[in-house]
Amino acid sequence: LTAFFQPKRLKGKRVLITAGPTTEAIDPVRVITNRSSGKTGYALASAAWEAGADVTLISGPTALETPYGVVRTVVESAQQMHDAVMSQIAHQDLFISVAAVADWRVANVSGEKLKKDGSGAPKIEFAPNPDILATVAAIPNGPWCVGFAAETENLAQYAEEKRKRKGISMLIGNLAQHVMDADHTTVSIFDDAGEHRLPKSSKQAVARQLIEAIAQRLPQVPP
Ligand code: CTP
Ligand code: CA
Repeated sequence: LTAFFQPKRLKGKRVLITAGPTTEAIDPVRVITNRSSGKTGYALASAAWEAGADVTLISGPTALETPYGVVRTVVESAQQMHDAVMSQIAHQDLFISVAAVADWRVANVSGEKLKKDGSGAPKIEFAPNPDILATVAAIPNGPWCVGFAAETENLAQYAEEKRKRKGISMLIGNLAQHVMDADHTTVSIFDDAGEHRLPKSSKQAVARQLIEAIAQRLPQVPP
């Protein structure tokens, strides 16, 4: 019922959100992934829908249900996530990049299951994945972009550097060891005004506050 009474701050806006981890294949039965649960991204998708937005979620593999009202596409790899985002990016007003995208994919993916054949540990080689957020942020007249950063130390410094490097005006940062897979989270908003820390709360409550903070900053296009 609380959802019903949320202010419709994003009414008529089209919002694209990435969430969850990516999985990068090593062979047909093995992947490299990370500890992202998807909870923060899914909570933001719900909060954006509550705020009246038309929400598309591109998600890596998670254990979560599609949030009510949201259109979801599930992908596995970073390249698939990139392609799914690019196919949906036209006409979006807002892109919120919450996914923990693998920075590297396996360059020498094996077509068959790797076997212990006595020649020692397999040599895995890596190739860089596309930076989805930086790519979207560079689209002329593209959507307004919000980034996320989970760091293990030096949060303020890394978050600020990342915001500049990716060419975005708002980045939400947290300390990874405190939030990954947890139901509560402590985040800071970084923008031109500096760092603004939100109080520790449930991911759902934080998501609603973040949607409000995003709605306040979203440039208003005259009708
Ligand atoms: N991101 C992305 N595509 C990638 C890597 C990151 O879209 N290939 C997005 C994330 O969704 C997040 C932001 O970029 O919104 C920051 O991700 P992060 O991993 O913290 O930054 P990196 O630039 O990859 O730097 P590093 O991992 O070295 O800290
Ligand atoms: Ca990264």
